[in-house]
Amino acid sequence: MNPKVTIQPLTKELFKEAVELVLKAGLDTKEEIEHHLKHIDAHYVALDKDSVIGIIGWYQDDMNYAADAMGDKFPGVEVYWIGFFAVDDKYRGKGIGYALLNKLEKAIKEKGAKELWVSSVPETKNYYQRQGFEMLMQGKIGDNPKIFCVKKIT
Ligand SMILES: CC(C)(COP(=O)(O)OP(=O)(O)OC[C@H]1O[C@@H](n2cnc3c(N)ncnc32)[C@H](O)[C@@H]1OP(=O)(O)O)[C@@H](O)C(=O)NCCC(=O)NCCS
Repeated sequence: MNPKVTIQPLTKELFKEAVELVLKAGLDTKEEIEHHLKHIDAHYVALDKDSVIGIIGWYQDDMNYAADAMGDKFPGVEVYWIGFFAVDDKYRGKGIGYALLNKLEKAIKEKGAKELWVSSVPETKNYYQRQGFEMLMQGKIGDNPKIFCVKKIT
């Protein structure tokens, strides 16, 4: 990773820029992105000088978002899931995603987490497997195909 790139907690000052980045990555609507990013202390950003070039966050699934799709494999509402995770397309493939994931794992470990879960589009399956995740199952949330993966936090 370029040594000029730093990882730090999201701040109110960087909120708007972070929303724009997730929007540009096409991960959700502006309203949903703003709603989730309001949990500022659950998000970390990658900065190149002062510009937001990456973001990652965690959430707990107290809305049972994945429960229907996962059935009896649903891990419950206490576990931590990867929320929005994106790196600006000009900066991809340089290890910034890896650094953000690493930061997230450390942060949730401090909260007592033993596992990190992710539900994502099937295209990201190989990426997560290479990052040490095990694919547990496939399913659909609404009409959208999803993979469900988990990684042990050591
Ligand atoms: C998924 C995503 C966040 C990954 O970010 P990234 O910064 O490109 O991730 P990394 O650089 O850590 O890893 C990407 C690849 O670069 C490689 N890489 C890591 N460090 C590297 C380095 N220093 N130099 C070159 N390549 C490197 C990794 O090995 C990885 O290769 P692989 O996919 O063959 O395993 C990014 O692709 C993205 O924003 N995608 C669109 C949004 C999305 O799908 N988000 C996930 C939804 S949950």
